[in-house]
Amino acid sequence: MTKPEFPIAWVRDSFPAFKSGDGFIFFDNGAGAQIPQVALDAVRNHLISHNVQRGGRYGKSREVDKSIQRARESVAMFLNAREPCEVAFGMNATSFIRLVSLALVEILGKRREIVVSDLDHEANIATWLALESRGVEIRWWKTREDGTLHTADLEPLLNSRTRLVACTAASNALGSIVNVKQAAEMAHAAGAEIFLDAVHYAPHGSLDVQDLDCDYLVCSGYKIFAPHMGFLWGKRPLLEALPTFREDFIPDSIPMKIEVGTFVYENVAGMDAVISYLEDLSHRLLPPSPATSRRARLLRAMEAIRDYEASLSLELVQRLSALDHVTIYGVTDPNQMRQRVPTLCFNLRRIEPVAVSAKCAEQGIGIRDGNMYSPRLLRRLGITPEVGAVRASLVHYNTVEEIERFTEVLQAMGRN
Ligand SMILES: Cc1ncc(COP(=O)(O)O)c(C=O)c1O
Repeated sequence: MTKPEFPIAWVRDSFPAFKSGDGFIFFDNGAGAQIPQVALDAVRNHLISHNVQRGGRYGKSREVDKSIQRARESVAMFLNAREPCEVAFGMNATSFIRLVSLALVEILGKRREIVVSDLDHEANIATWLALESRGVEIRWWKTREDGTLHTADLEPLLNSRTRLVACTAASNALGSIVNVKQAAEMAHAAGAEIFLDAVHYAPHGSLDVQDLDCDYLVCSGYKIFAPHMGFLWGKRPLLEALPTFREDFIPDSIPMKIEVGTFVYENVAGMDAVISYLEDLSHRLLPPSPATSRRARLLRAMEAIRDYEASLSLELVQRLSALDHVTIYGVTDPNQMRQRVPTLCFNLRRIEPVAVSAKCAEQGIGIRDGNMYSPRLLRRLGITPEVGAVRASLVHYNTVEEIERFTEVLQAMGRN
């Protein structure tokens, strides 16, 4: 059966940001994505109809409790978690990585080695490095020349002293996808746990914590088309064993022991609505059927996003490769577009990254220059982090026409 065409017109129509008429090109999605109307509506509704504290006996407060519970169930479905209570909401990914690291260091036992990778965002490196002063020894899983992590290089780092492997599912700088399922298998075979940073991967493909058999996983909602918020997932017994900070009157049970203080309820409602947007996307591919589960709908949508984005990656790589003054970092083989997401890191010869992004800004294109919060990776690739590189990070609402306009700007820069 031929695959249905990706409903790009419907997708773009779902995002108010594209209706301003300014034609701005959002190619900085790795730093945060746009929000569909349904998510805006959910935030607005929350603020208008029940902007109160949860846990009260009155109706509006009960509505907040229900809305958080609904969001927890949706996110659990998004991750294929065993139970909604394995999902905790909070501000962002970094604060959750810090929370888990500070708790884990209290219960390391004899296993005092932690493996981190130089492909990762600094949030998933520095947090673990900060434990060195508490007697943790860091082992480095190094990125190869091809811009990704190879599990063969993880093997020799694992032993009976390894407590945890912390690594990313996809590089926020290069877009390379990591074989985290195999990494989890290897970590477990050594008796260690694995902490996955799925922040950059999550908007691009489906996640299944049971299939990956990971132990902890963190995401930032604002990279997945929701407002600013983050969530942590962990296997129930592991979360239960974490000694986290909480006031005495907060129960020592999940998710409460992980969710210290008040988080942004309206943004959690926005995250819930984004998941319904993704389910709705699947209805543009196949008519809705009551027999289809929410998870099946979500998987269909994410698979269509993966396919469409592979075509964007190919277009981007091929058009940029055709420019004679460009160096692309990461996966460029046209046959390996499913080993990456459409996040492209590059430099133009003799033109500073800052000048490239400034020129693009003049032309109404938002991209990023700098170290992409991965200075160690840049050094590994022979790039001075202070100078950095350029990153165009696309998601499923971007188009081939936008890539054409972007390439024309780069081409013109090469001529001047
Ligand atoms: C891969 C990755 N990990 C972690 C983070 C940090 O996320 P947050 O801003 O939610 O703390 C980012 C942010 O860009 C990221 O791209």
